[in-house]
Amino acid sequence: MAKAAVMTGIDQPLEIRDDIEVEAPRAGELKVRMAASGVCHSDLSMQNGTMMAATPIVLGHEGAGIVEEVGEGVTSIKPGDKVIISWVPQCGECFFCQREQGYLCEQANAALATGGLLDGTTRMTSQGAPLFQMAASGTFSEVTIIPAIGAVKIPGDIDMRVAALIGCGVLTGTGAAMNTANIKKGDVVAVVGCGGVGLNVIQGARIKGAGEIIAVDMNETKLQMAKEFGATATVNASQSDPVSQVMEMTGQRGADVAFEVIGLQQTIDQTITMVRRGGQAILVGVPKMDAMVNVPAFFGVVLAEKTIKGCWYGSSNVQKDVPKLIELYKSGQLKLDELISRTITVEQVNEAFDAMKTGEVARSVIEYSV
Ligand code: APR
Ligand code: ZN
Ligand code: ZN
Repeated sequence: MAKAAVMTGIDQPLEIRDDIEVEAPRAGELKVRMAASGVCHSDLSMQNGTMMAATPIVLGHEGAGIVEEVGEGVTSIKPGDKVIISWVPQCGECFFCQREQGYLCEQANAALATGGLLDGTTRMTSQGAPLFQMAASGTFSEVTIIPAIGAVKIPGDIDMRVAALIGCGVLTGTGAAMNTANIKKGDVVAVVGCGGVGLNVIQGARIKGAGEIIAVDMNETKLQMAKEFGATATVNASQSDPVSQVMEMTGQRGADVAFEVIGLQQTIDQTITMVRRGGQAILVGVPKMDAMVNVPAFFGVVLAEKTIKGCWYGSSNVQKDVPKLIELYKSGQLKLDELISRTITVEQVNEAFDAMKTGEVARSVIEYSV
């Protein structure tokens, strides 16, 4: 039996249960003993109803662990391997995977939509009822079952808390800058929202050689962190209008690329407005399901020739991008230790949600005893 943090209903504190029965992995699946899991804003977005969830569900999707058992037919990974969980499993064979768009993998859709694994069914039970798993992951559990195509093997010497963060916030944030926007040397970049994901957009932009990186947040601590991660200027959105600030800093032209990394209607509008003619607005944050992109078609898009681009999982092809990110970390270009504001136990996950709401942490990371 395993211990896990379970969401039972919208706005209910997660229940810490220690009666979780975990089945053996079926064909094409892995049993993973979790070593660490980050607490990402998307976990909170599920708990507060911003994103839909079938309940009861084990939340958590930003994790790393050690493979304990492999199901039939799994040859790429063996027990004892350390892995990062890719919450978008990438099959390598579907329409999208064959076009280097593994982040849109068709196999992942069922799991994301149903709260089950690739076939829509679940592998965990608690209190006599099946438990769903967020994004085919469920990393707020000591043990989980994942699709083998949702695992990326990593070197044995990496801090597993750092590895966990790569699984969502780092891939998403750096990928938004390095893949989705493909920032060019000298670009003027604005990043709206400097949490766990936004700080990674900033460092991705720095690594790609952005000329200026303007960080926008409402929290001074985050703006200080943003500078450490590579921001060259900061705007406190609680003190002045971020759009006019960014326009002023760019000779009234606007940013070459602006990223929205929160998921609010207001900041989505601001981000699109602060982009220069011919520039790109990259929407990373997950908004409420009924949020809309409101842009005047002529003045906002045609005449302005703006690109408004969605970003899903940092447009990452995980088997290629994870090793690249680990290299950048090892060479000191990618700051990952600095993202860990707190190391906690799974019992403290509700406190991690509170800390996220007040904006005091970049990331709380759950460490399991393995
Ligand atoms: N203007 C500017 N900054 C804001 C505003 C606002 N109106 N509202 C919130 N913020 C800042 C917070 O202060 C915080 O620093 O946005 C940041 C959000 O950071 P986190 O809560 O740490 O969220 P994160 O995990 O980075 O995720 C951001 O990406 O993957 C998605 O679902 C995720 O939508 C979420 C987004
Ligand atoms: Zn996440
Ligand atoms: Zn695929």
